[in-house]
Amino acid sequence: MSINKIAKKLVAHGKGIMAADRPPAAFEQLLESEGIPVDEDAYRNWSQLLFTAPKLNEYVSGIIMTPEQTQLRNDAGESLIAGVVDQGMIPGISPFKGMVALAGSDGETVGSGLDGLRERLAGFAAMGVGFTKWRAAFQIGPGTPSYYAIEANAYVMAQVAALSQEAGLVPIVEPEVMLLGDHTIERCFAVTEWVLSRTFEALYVHRVDLEGSLVKASMVLSGNECLQQADVDTVAEQTVKAFKRQIPAAIPGIVFLSGGQSDYHATAHLNAMNANYELPWKLSFSYARALQREPMAIWENRRENVPAAQAALYHRAKMNGLASLGLWTEELEGEAVAQKA
Ligand code: 13P
Repeated sequence: MSINKIAKKLVAHGKGIMAADRPPAAFEQLLESEGIPVDEDAYRNWSQLLFTAPKLNEYVSGIIMTPEQTQLRNDAGESLIAGVVDQGMIPGISPFKGMVALAGSDGETVGSGLDGLRERLAGFAAMGVGFTKWRAAFQIGPGTPSYYAIEANAYVMAQVAALSQEAGLVPIVEPEVMLLGDHTIERCFAVTEWVLSRTFEALYVHRVDLEGSLVKASMVLSGNECLQQADVDTVAEQTVKAFKRQIPAAIPGIVFLSGGQSDYHATAHLNAMNANYELPWKLSFSYARALQREPMAIWENRRENVPAAQAALYHRAKMNGLASLGLWTEELEGEAVAQKA
């Protein structure tokens, strides 16, 4: 399939992406912090729960996974990634090896994992992977993000995007402006515009085919510690305004990260943008927490809770699928309340 076709399939009508690419060590830390027991099968069991949830393919077009997850097998000993393909969903890979300190900066970061990436991507493509995701994280603070961090990350994201396309994979370019902090929505708007403008400049320099790329973006939000929280309509308005200024219409779709927003807000914001604006690109989701928070709380690493956790995952995927069409309503939220066994 051409990269343009893959990109369009990932943002097909009413569908979005599930980001399941939490690395094993971070996954175990999360379980510990939530008071959920950790054992040696937890990562496989959780990945199986996510990748085999019944009917998830109605609302999920692709799943972002870790290199470790591409090697996992289900209870019957069959490859999990093959099961994802059999359900008509596209497997994606996060080839990233973690954030490292950006030398000479004041605590800013850049993603690592460029060494040997060309060969690794060819290996993932041979496994049936259709796309990549690479994240940059920008913290708003006094003097940050810096020009240096924005340029350095834009160039790394663009290199990864170019290498992905060389391997026949759609790059999802993820410049995340983080929610943490007491900044106003106006500051987030200004930083988001700046980051997007430099990111697209770098994609141009690296000869990246925009028709075969997707952007994974953060919404324009008030910082989580800002005393004045912008309402849903303002978030939708400011986010669409920043994107229309800085994201070319040649991009087939923009998929949001949830970034620490509540499940409700991640869905309500997405819905407001799609319900109220004429948009030149598809606007959908690529959520991790806003899809998996509730299922994980239900699961508790207990096999008997898997069906209820999968039902909760399906429900959130459905709500966000509807929001990608501007068809979500608060009343629909009450539809399915999953019960633990
Ligand atoms: P959240 O939706 O939890 O922000 O994660 C999305 C993601 O994949 C970040 O890279």
